[in-house]
Amino acid sequence: MRRRVIAGNWKMYKTLAETRAFFSAFAPLVANSKHCDIVIAPPFTAISTAAEAAKNTNIAVSGQNISWSKEGAFTGEVSATMLVEAGCRYVIIGHSERRQLFRESDDSVAKKTLMALGAGLIPIVCVGETGEDRDAGLTEEVLRRQFSGGPGALTPEEFSRILIAYEPVWAIGTGRTATPEIAADAHRLLRRCAGERFSVPIASALRILYGGSVKPDNIKGLMAQEELDGALVGGASLDPKSFASIVNFTA
Ligand code: PGA
Repeated sequence: MRRRVIAGNWKMYKTLAETRAFFSAFAPLVANSKHCDIVIAPPFTAISTAAEAAKNTNIAVSGQNISWSKEGAFTGEVSATMLVEAGCRYVIIGHSERRQLFRESDDSVAKKTLMALGAGLIPIVCVGETGEDRDAGLTEEVLRRQFSGGPGALTPEEFSRILIAYEPVWAIGTGRTATPEIAADAHRLLRRCAGERFSVPIASALRILYGGSVKPDNIKGLMAQEELDGALVGGASLDPKSFASIVNFTA
């Protein structure tokens, strides 16, 4: 069975003091949670503080983005090695907000994934269709395109080290969660893409997280789907109690 991953994406929220307060409240609530990997992605400025607070706990820290370059004259960018040095073990790549608001392409997602892997980070590569794509019946086409341009461009060995997050754009921050069945269908499609591009064993080992308005009251239903290997949580990861009850969905 694939080990579940529950990851929180804080986006552009939390100061250093708020980060410390979150960890003091959250860490004890999940100290005995052994059924999944727990990840938190704070903003860049709070990564070191989060990593310090996460020391000797079962919580790993993630970046929310990285540069596709190793180093150089790229004002405002942060490299994979810098994230590792600051204490990250994971990094989110190609989040829909990055794709939509900052014009990230499948090509940059592929390059960033390689940088992350090269530095030993575990990339959480996001894919997902917009509401218009879904209404126009283009979900499969969009997911196939994002898969082949991003994760599908890796070697089998590289691919076996990534996580994919299926995040339908229409469900992010909208309170409109995908039904467990809709999410499972999309996960099956992505797993099929992995099987066609790589191999069935590689596809079966791939962990696919669902993201988009995951809350304490819908996590159980989502995780009841065998296809869903965890969750990428935005808004509900900002509050320690709410994120802990998502992590502890089995309780
Ligand atoms: P949400 O965000 O849980 O607030 O919908 C999910 C995400 O953007 O990863």
